[in-house]
Amino acid sequence: MSDDYMPVQKVLHWVVVALVVVQAGLGLWVAFDAPADEALAGRLYNAHDGTGAVLLVLMLLRLAVRLVNYVPRLPRGTPHWVATAAWLNHRALYVVLIVQPLLGWLNNGANGYPWSFYGLFNIPSPIGQNQAAAAWLSSLHLWGAEALAVLVVLHLGGVAYHTVIRRDGLLRRMT
Ligand code: HEM
Ligand code: HEM
Repeated sequence: MSDDYMPVQKVLHWVVVALVVVQAGLGLWVAFDAPADEALAGRLYNAHDGTGAVLLVLMLLRLAVRLVNYVPRLPRGTPHWVATAAWLNHRALYVVLIVQPLLGWLNNGANGYPWSFYGLFNIPSPIGQNQAAAAWLSSLHLWGAEALAVLVVLHLGGVAYHTVIRRDGLLRRMT
């Protein structure tokens, strides 16, 4: 077992990081400061929908690579509780990044919209329009975004702990 992630895992990690930043920006924009110009608002929704689809595919690919491959050992001397926290943090990040696009899809369906791939084609919704469902699906999508923010802060805390306090070269495993 190597102590390094595979190149494909590194590329996927950093592409997902970049797309999550774009995705959060687009989501907050449409949800809290939607432009009055309907055409622009529609393009923002399509961009958010499409990027969510790309994220879902990339996360499933990452999951597949992780399952058929390996996860490198943590640096020697990492305390047991830190290793457990990292284990939980990574799994929770995978779960949220896979569930969040699916909630977005259902939320769109409950609001009467399909899942648009950048306006190029639509993925039909598995559920019909439903006001009550739309309200709680929207809340679940917001909680998903909040959970993701908390997990990313904890993740960065873990990286800082390894890099600044332990100086054990953890960051090199992902770069
Ligand atoms: C990992 C993927 C995703 C992330 C991180 C994400 C993140 C966000 C964030 C931060 C917001 C603003 C806060 C809120 O109101 O919920 C938002 C809103 C929204 N997102 Fe996403 N989203 C993702 C995927 C999707 C997908 C795939 C769709 C649709 C197919 C979607 C549809 C929406 C809609 C319609 C809103 C507007 C507010 C609402 O009704 O909840 N999202 N998203
Ligand atoms: C500047 C920001 C970031 C840095 C420096 C960073 C760094 C790292 C490092 C060094 C690892 C490997 C940990 C280990 O060897 O056990 C890692 C793993 C991981 N990171 Fe990040 N990360 C960042 C942002 C993010 C973000 C924003 C997300 C999610 C949206 C994320 C999701 C993950 C996941 C899921 C893993 C586990 C990979 C696996 O084992 O399959 N990271 N990150």
